[in-house]
Amino acid sequence: VSLPSVRELVQAATRDLLAAGASDNLDDARLEAELLYAHASGGTRERVIAAGGEAPDAAALERFGALLRRRLRHEPLAYILGRREFYGLTLEVGPGCLVPRPETETLVEAGLSAIREHPNARRLVRVADAGTGSGAVALAVARHAPSARVFATDASTEALAWAGRNRKRLGLIERIVLLAGELLEPVPEPLDVVLANLPYIPTEEFEALPPEIREWEPRLAVDGGDDGLAPFRALAVQLPAHLAAGPVAVLLEVGAGQAGIVEDLVHRVLDGREAVTARVHRDLFGARRVVEVRAGY
Ligand SMILES: C[S@@+](CC[C@H](N)C(=O)[O-])C[C@H]1O[C@@H](n2cnc3c(N)ncnc32)[C@H](O)[C@@H]1O
Repeated sequence: VSLPSVRELVQAATRDLLAAGASDNLDDARLEAELLYAHASGGTRERVIAAGGEAPDAAALERFGALLRRRLRHEPLAYILGRREFYGLTLEVGPGCLVPRPETETLVEAGLSAIREHPNARRLVRVADAGTGSGAVALAVARHAPSARVFATDASTEALAWAGRNRKRLGLIERIVLLAGELLEPVPEPLDVVLANLPYIPTEEFEALPPEIREWEPRLAVDGGDDGLAPFRALAVQLPAHLAAGPVAVLLEVGAGQAGIVEDLVHRVLDGREAVTARVHRDLFGARRVVEVRAGY
C-alpha cells in the first residue's frame, strides 16, 4: 500500500474538522488543516501546498496526528500553534490567556489616536490596559506610541505570565509595567488614558458559546456576570481615584448592545469636567465595539 500524500492527509483532516464542528466552513477547515500540517512539519503553509503531491515524513505524520486530535477536541488553534498575530505583532498564547481577537484592534487603533492627540503627547502619556491577558493591547500601544508609558494589570497570574513572555520577546520590558490586581487598583500613578477589553459576555450566554471558548479559554476573561456589565461598573467605581486631573480619555471595548449603557457609566464619572465628548467606534465587522469618552482635550 502506498502512503497518502500530504494533500490527501490535509483533505482528510479538513473533513474531520468539519465533521467535529471544529470549523464551520470548508475554507476555514482547510486553512486550519494546512496550518496544523505546517506546524507539524516545521514549514510554512505555502510549503505544505507546494508539497501536496509528496509523501509526508514519518515524524511530521505523527506530530500532525497529535495536533489534529487536539484540535478535534476543540482546543483553540492559537493554543495549539502557540501564537496569534495581533496588530502586526506575533504574540505567544496558550491556556491561561484569552486569544486576542481582531475586534480588539479597534480598541488599539482608537487608543493610539487618543494618545497621539493628548496634549502631553510630546512628553509622556500615562496609559493603563486593565485586564491585559496576553498583553495584546498594552504591547501594541507601547510599540506604536513612543510617548506612552503603559501600566498593564490582570487579576490572573497565569495571564500575566503570558504578558511577561510577550513583553520580553518584543523587547518592550522598559515600556510596560505589569501589575497583579483588580482592574486599576495596583496602578501607582495618575492616568491620562485608560484602555480596557474587559469580560462582557452575560453569564447566561456563556453556556451557549462554542466549546473552543467555553471549555478552553479562562472564564475570568469572558464571563461578565449577570448582565455582562459587572466589570464596567467595578471600573467606573475605581476611575475617579485613578484619572489624572488634566485631559483624560477612557476607551472600553464592549459587547452587543452595551455601548449606550457603558457610555453613560463613563460620562457620569467625568461629570463636572470640561469639554466632555463621547463617541463609539465600529469594529471591522461593523459592530459598535469601542466606547470612547474624552475630557479636557
Ligand atoms: C476579555 S480578556 C482581554 C485580554 C486582552 N486585553 C485582550 O484584549 O486580548 C479580559 C482580561 O481581564 C482579566 N480580568 C477579568 N476581571 C478582572 C479584574 N477584576 N481585574 C483585573 N483583570 C481582570 C482577565 O483575566 C482577562 O485577562
